[in-house]
Amino acid sequence: MGKYSKIIITSGPTREWIDPVRFISNASSGKMGYCLAQEATHLVKDIVYIRGLTEPKYSEPKGARIIKVETTLEMRDAVLKEVDSSSILIMAAAPADFRPKNANESKIKKEEGSDTLVLELIKNPDILVSVHEKIHTQNLKDILRIGFSAETDLLDQNALGKLRKKNLDFIVGNYVGKDSKGFGDLDTSVIVYGKEGSKKEIGPASKETIAKGILEYLDILSKQESII
Ligand code: CTP
Repeated sequence: MGKYSKIIITSGPTREWIDPVRFISNASSGKMGYCLAQEATHLVKDIVYIRGLTEPKYSEPKGARIIKVETTLEMRDAVLKEVDSSSILIMAAAPADFRPKNANESKIKKEEGSDTLVLELIKNPDILVSVHEKIHTQNLKDILRIGFSAETDLLDQNALGKLRKKNLDFIVGNYVGKDSKGFGDLDTSVIVYGKEGSKKEIGPASKETIAKGILEYLDILSKQESII
């Protein structure tokens, strides 16, 4: 993988507790992160798999060091600790963007006479932005950052917006939603957008094949010094 010796892959959803029995999360299975971690074993020795609550079958890619986290804040701390010079960070996780402002210590009860419940949420930090800040303040070199952009509409526009906003090297965009195929086990296709304007479509194919295609593409580019 060119000058890169470590690949950090995040995977799955994070979970934010509302009270001791309820939480906010999302439908990410962790499959894409898992497939990337398995494929990465062909490229470098040092693979770190930072995972939220993935489906059990996607929790332990062979050959990777596994770090289990629950919340977005925990995932951010684990990523910031692992990321160093000569590493590639692939943020395939779906971290919860918000957490309850005040998690209840006891189970929330239905109130007599009220048909609504107001839950106040507070924004979680953006992990990719936090990594960019760390690179900047500590003057770290050669960290390649790849994000994912799962969208229900306007893929090009939304993915490219996130690529710029989060100062990424690449973003992998795909369509998701109830009737499309981005989340879970089915075949999907993705577009890898580069910060220099490159655009490569991979798929439709299984997530295993897509993960292989993404890493092969990055591997080729990483050996062409001028590009990344
Ligand atoms: N991401 C992150 N930190 C967060 C949320 C997301 O680093 N708190 C990463 C994801 O892992 C993904 C990329 O940012 O690689 C885009 O995530 P996405 O949920 O599509 O975008 P958001 O920035 O959360 O924007 P929105 O939810 O408004 O679409």
